[in-house]
Amino acid sequence: LFFFSCGFLLLSLHILRAVTALEEKIVISKLGDNATLSCIYPGKEFSLNNLRVYWQIDDVQEQCSVVHALISGQDNESEQCIHFKNRTQLLWDRLGDGDFSLLLLNVSQSDERKYKCVVLQTNEYTKVVHQAQVVLSLAASYSQPILSGPVRNSNSAGEEVTFSCSSDNGYPEPNVYWINRTDNRRLLPSELNITLHVDGTYSVLSTLKVKATSDMQIECFIENKRLQENISANYTQEKQKNGSNTESHKDLEKSGRGAQAAGIISIVILIALLAVLICWLWKHRSSKLVSYTGNEDLHLCDQI
Ligand SMILES: *[C@@H]1O[C@H](CO)[C@@H](O)[C@H](O)[C@H]1NC(C)=O
Ligand SMILES: *[C@@H]1O[C@H](CO)[C@@H](O)[C@H](O)[C@H]1NC(C)=O
Ligand SMILES: *[C@@H]1O[C@H](CO)[C@@H](O)[C@H](O)[C@H]1NC(C)=O
Ligand SMILES: *[C@@H]1O[C@H](CO)[C@@H](O)[C@H](O)[C@H]1NC(C)=O
Ligand SMILES: *[C@@H]1O[C@H](CO)[C@@H](O)[C@H](O)[C@H]1NC(C)=O
Ligand SMILES: *[C@@H]1O[C@H](CO)[C@@H](O)[C@H](O)[C@H]1NC(C)=O
Ligand SMILES: *[C@@H]1O[C@H](CO)[C@@H](O)[C@H](O)[C@H]1NC(C)=O
Ligand SMILES: *[C@@H]1O[C@H](CO)[C@@H](O)[C@H](O)[C@H]1NC(C)=O
Ligand SMILES: *[C@@H]1O[C@H](CO)[C@@H](O)[C@H](O)[C@H]1NC(C)=O
Repeated sequence: LFFFSCGFLLLSLHILRAVTALEEKIVISKLGDNATLSCIYPGKEFSLNNLRVYWQIDDVQEQCSVVHALISGQDNESEQCIHFKNRTQLLWDRLGDGDFSLLLLNVSQSDERKYKCVVLQTNEYTKVVHQAQVVLSLAASYSQPILSGPVRNSNSAGEEVTFSCSSDNGYPEPNVYWINRTDNRRLLPSELNITLHVDGTYSVLSTLKVKATSDMQIECFIENKRLQENISANYTQEKQKNGSNTESHKDLEKSGRGAQAAGIISIVILIALLAVLICWLWKHRSSKLVSYTGNEDLHLCDQI
């Protein structure tokens, strides 16, 4: 029994290897782009009239599997699944060379499948002469991340501060890394929220809570492994400069004081002028109303 199972296992392994030996490619396409699924029949002597080429979804459980059919050199749409209607094209000028690569237009997440190209020769009897498998993977670049942190110089060291890093419109789910630029160590986020949108793309929001230090330099990375993309944003808390910033502040203060002084001086002058005017009027009147002399105010005016 042992030898039997061993032999059986070897045999199944052998079959498996034969199956996987079938050329299988992975195509990575961006959402909304046209993807090319490659299938090249190496046969030399053939007539398109005696060939049938089927592009299909490589999944026995799939109810409708025909993506594209070429029968006797002509596209045959009678069995094509509705999902692929008007979205497939063969490269017409290359068919004669045995290049049956398929152009799948405007790809979306629902096209993320394993496809199979089967080339059949229909002479006296029909036989499979070539097969190819293509896995279609979709991807979309994440937007430039937006990193926000505490307002500069407003926090005191030791206080807990929150950073947040967000990015949108990517696919598939990203990895988020926070790096302390001072020692290039990784920092662990406290929250990671990934949201799936109706258009099939993701948004990511990561939050980092750390104890504030005087000179924080933090970088947040959004990694799209499938596209080998890693985009980042920096937060730099500049050291308080003893230069321009504080000086300009002092200048502002100085000019502020200057304006205040000028205001006070003009008010004093105004009051003095008013007093002189009032006194003049008073004297003018008192010279007519003789009975009203002896008033103290008049004495004050006399002094002015
Ligand atoms: C995809 O192919 C169609 C038809 O050939 C073309 O009109 C369209 O511009 C292509 N789209 C992209 C993103 O290349
Ligand atoms: C498509 O193929 C079916 C059978 O597979 C056939 O009856 C039909 O005539 C073909 N149509 C075209 C346009 O070749
Ligand atoms: C395919 O295109 C034809 C003509 O351009 C149109 O009548 C038909 O509705 C389209 N089919 C689908 C499923 O979009
Ligand atoms: C591409 O497909 C999406 C749905 O997946 C659709 O909303 C959009 O209108 C299509 N674009 C073109 C140019 O056909
Ligand atoms: C970043 O690294 C420096 C040097 O090791 C350390 O002093 C500082 O606390 C770190 N910052 C954060 C936010 O962990
Ligand atoms: C992130 O998700 C958690 C639950 O998973 C939720 O409690 C939190 O409010 C979300 N944060 C943001 C900023 O949306
Ligand atoms: C992206 O950056 C992070 C942090 O520096 C690093 O760990 C990761 O390996 C990078 N990924 C790629 C694809 O470069
Ligand atoms: C962030 O700063 C580091 C050095 O501190 C630099 O290498 C990196 O290019 C910067 N990244 C961005 C997006 O500006
Ligand atoms: C700041 O002050 C230090 C000494 O306290 C001095 O060496 C440096 O040049 C100053 N920087 C500026 C921009 O004035």
